[in-house]
Amino acid sequence: MKTIIEPFKIKSVEPIRFTTREEREKLLKEAGYNPFLLHADDVLIDLLTDSGTSAMSSEQWAGIMRGDESYAGSKSFYNFEDAVKKITAMKFVIPTHQGRAAEKILFSIVGGPGKYFPNNTHFDTTRANIEFTGSEAVDLLNETGKHPEIRADFKGNMDTEKLESFIKEKGKENIPLCMITITNNSGGGQPVSMQNIREVKKILQRYSIPLFIDACRFAENVYFIKKREKGYSDKSALEIAQEIFSYADGVTMSAKKDGLANIGGFLAMNDENLALLCRNLLIVTEGFPTYGGLAGRDLEAVAQGLAEILDEHYLQYRIRSVEYLGEKLIAAGIPIIEPPGGHAIYIDAKRFLPDIPPEQFPGQSIVCELYIEGGIRGVEIGSLMFGKYDESGRLIPPPMELVRLAIPRRVYTQSHIDYVSEVVIEVFRKRDKLKGYEIIYEAPILRHFTARFQAL
Ligand SMILES: Cc1ncc(COP(=O)(O)O)c(C=O)c1O
Repeated sequence: MKTIIEPFKIKSVEPIRFTTREEREKLLKEAGYNPFLLHADDVLIDLLTDSGTSAMSSEQWAGIMRGDESYAGSKSFYNFEDAVKKITAMKFVIPTHQGRAAEKILFSIVGGPGKYFPNNTHFDTTRANIEFTGSEAVDLLNETGKHPEIRADFKGNMDTEKLESFIKEKGKENIPLCMITITNNSGGGQPVSMQNIREVKKILQRYSIPLFIDACRFAENVYFIKKREKGYSDKSALEIAQEIFSYADGVTMSAKKDGLANIGGFLAMNDENLALLCRNLLIVTEGFPTYGGLAGRDLEAVAQGLAEILDEHYLQYRIRSVEYLGEKLIAAGIPIIEPPGGHAIYIDAKRFLPDIPPEQFPGQSIVCELYIEGGIRGVEIGSLMFGKYDESGRLIPPPMELVRLAIPRRVYTQSHIDYVSEVVIEVFRKRDKLKGYEIIYEAPILRHFTARFQAL
């Protein structure tokens, strides 16, 4: 059969609330034209993030009931630890309440002024946690990954030549570790090939620099390797995942993505001394090492989620449903990052609104219009999220101006996705009427979460 179906049936449903266009115009104005500040109840289809928004399975809910809430030595922790070790084979597994807590602990220990952390592309919380310690977060994405219109199989790959010259320039003693983010969220959810991971590891080994993998969406990356990389089509998803992690010295993961859980994360590593330092800090900031800021029931949900995520029927459906939305938009002439990534469609706002300059946040303009037009919530990933300013206060824009429509896992059906494509196409049809925005309030760090705007 041609049709790839959802590999599950729906047991429990949650109504969504319909609003009128007039209501949405008023609600968005009250939210300072920042959809992060909307009440979720006022959103019809919420594509703000795929993080923590997954629908849990009946087995995960059963795990929630089984959760062992003992303060120390909880059985649920050992289930969680087994699930992480089965995939990553890391010697030390440290639970955290979400991904950024793992980053905070790791970089508080290995970061500091004068240090550099390369990555294919740092996610915003990773970058913020590194910069908070006075270190520099450096993106070394390959050139193809910076061009939304170029179709290539592994646009998340790190530029290995740049990596090696960067190490020579800054000195290996100033690079405590190197990261690879799979898939590359900030660069379009694009995958990294096994060959690239292997090559990065080889270079790092020469300079004794550890490799840490940001594994938020490792299973989606695994599926792309299986489908696109020579030599992997006959390997199971688990085998491919195990090979990826065999090249790593450590892992950070937000289990709110490919952990299929609503909260949770972990930090894992092979270095015993580093693990000791991390656990000591964990006790101060998160909790005892066998729960780390999570309830026993949350640990069970993650353990079960990690067991389900490598199901190949699920991965086939997941990657196909994102691709399906991408194909509809491409057919309507809408510029998106091609090919579609693993968890989201990224609209290329620069080509969608060529007349709105980065200083006026073209991505934010599209985000606002998608809400007004059809109650859809997306997120800007461009000058608002990553823009920097020079000494004269002039914006230095990031390479791409994007709008991300992230698809929560197992939540929306094909007709929801058809509706989303109709709304995006309608906004594209009216694109000449869209206006830029200016910021009237911004926080000093991670400003996109709370900034307020006015239309120009
Ligand atoms: C690649 C990547 N790393 C880290 C994080 C941070 O995870 P959390 O939101 O659980 O703190 C995210 C969250 O979206 C992410 O996409």
